Amino acid sequence: MGILNPLLILSLVFGATVFCQYDFDEFEDEFEDELDNEYPSVFHIPSVEYAIPYPALPAECAKECFCPPAFPKSMYCDHRKLRTIPNIPSHIQQLYLQYNDIEAVLLESFVNATALREINLSHNKIKSDMIDTGVFAKLSNLVQLHLEHNLLEEIPFPLPRGLERLILGFNKMSKISTQALEGLENVTMLDLCNNNLVDSEIKGKHFSSMQSLMQLNLCSNRLESLPPELPFSLLYLSLENNSVSFIPDNYFQKFPKIIALRLSHNNLHEVPYNVFNLPNLVELNLGHNKLQQVFHISRSLQHLYLEDNDIEVMNITLMCPSIDPLNLNQLTYIRVDQNKLTAPISTYAFFCFPLIRSIYYGEQKISSNQRTQLRTPVFRRYLTPEEYDEAEENHEAEEHYDEQDQDHRGRDEDYFDPYLY
Ligand SMILES: *[C@@H]1O[C@H](CO)[C@@H](O)[C@H](O)[C@H]1NC(C)=O
Ligand SMILES: *[C@@H]1O[C@H](CO)[C@@H](O)[C@H](O)[C@H]1NC(C)=O
Ligand SMILES: *[C@@H]1O[C@H](CO)[C@@H](O)[C@H](O)[C@H]1NC(C)=O
Ligand SMILES: *[C@@H]1O[C@H](CO)[C@@H](O)[C@H](O)[C@H]1NC(C)=O
Ligand SMILES: *[C@@H]1O[C@H](CO)[C@@H](O)[C@H](O)[C@H]1NC(C)=O
Repeated sequence: MGILNPLLILSLVFGATVFCQYDFDEFEDEFEDELDNEYPSVFHIPSVEYAIPYPALPAECAKECFCPPAFPKSMYCDHRKLRTIPNIPSHIQQLYLQYNDIEAVLLESFVNATALREINLSHNKIKSDMIDTGVFAKLSNLVQLHLEHNLLEEIPFPLPRGLERLILGFNKMSKISTQALEGLENVTMLDLCNNNLVDSEIKGKHFSSMQSLMQLNLCSNRLESLPPELPFSLLYLSLENNSVSFIPDNYFQKFPKIIALRLSHNNLHEVPYNVFNLPNLVELNLGHNKLQQVFHISRSLQHLYLEDNDIEVMNITLMCPSIDPLNLNQLTYIRVDQNKLTAPISTYAFFCFPLIRSIYYGEQKISSNQRTQLRTPVFRRYLTPEEYDEAEENHEAEEHYDEQDQDHRGRDEDYFDPYLY
């Protein structure tokens, strides 16, 4: 037993990384609780888990599905061409039903399923009117619900009040009913990307009542203006690929904790000079708009994406109106390819932004059908060996741009995880 125990522990720990599929929790812990930052030491696993890692009798499992013996609380029914949801035994906590042909979510499949914490129903054929009313609300332990890539026309409701992550991307949603977001006080991540939402459905809908919301994804919808009511807790906002043309002056004051903001592929011609001067902003993506002028860069900003705009001069006086040697600007990377620059950024920039590591100039547009290159398509500051090591460790986005790299799409897709929370 003395020798067996460590082996069992090892298989538990290793197995957990394979089967649990809780990709997001590590990130969340980092932000929510500094003390919980470390991996739980083996000794924190409740002793009952050691005692019965392999149950004497095989636990109940739907015949269509697979329940791994070492993880009897998970039921895998994905990629099986299922047309209906199998009966779910009462001890199951994780239910994987992605990639099937399921059209309906019926109360009767869930009568015994009171322990469920996580359901993955993505990549099915579920329509809103085929979800039994209250079927999810009854699952009082549910924290994570994946319904992306279905045929939903609206947010299912009611939903359980303890829900933390709701993923509804790639559906056909064109409306959000007033009740849908009510009482979802524990939701930290809401993904509504790739739907058909228009302004009138977002207005007056109280995202602001979701007081734990940290990440809101509204990319690839049909929004022409920014959502008016967002909660104070928000850290990540994704609005790329809409038709937003206007940012109100003090728009971000109601959620000043914002860390990353994606507004690429919109229709912005100008922005208020001080609107992005926010204390915690680290990533700002305004690529593929029609901006002509730069704006005040906040001290915290590290990565600035401005590719494919109409900027003729990167006016450093505007970006950095004053220098505070005790509070250095944090900017390390600027992307400005596909603009109308005729000269590199003034070297004064390196006094204002002493941490700059690279500026990606790429190709510039002289006229609509003519492209040109500045003498140096990529500016790289010489790094000391220590700085170089640090840059390598941090996997900075700019490390992916070198002189040979002609892929102008670059890495702008994944500089923050779209499903962080
Ligand atoms: C629910 O549990 C009861 C008692 O164990 C069982 O008889 C019944 O078949 C179960 N129903 C479903 C839908 O799993
Ligand atoms: C749910 O399924 C999708 C595939 O559709 C997968 O990418 C995702 O990781 C799954 N989520 C969980 C928590 O298992
Ligand atoms: C919401 O989260 C808090 C803190 O984690 C928890 O105490 C509370 O029970 C949760 N609410 C519901 C309805 O589950
Ligand atoms: C932008 O959104 C449209 C739908 O509004 C979608 O068809 C298209 O694939 C999206 N483009 C990108 C790059 O995501
Ligand atoms: C930069 O902006 C300042 C303030 O608007 C202006 O006075 C200056 O002429 C501009 N510099 C360039 C090079 O356009």
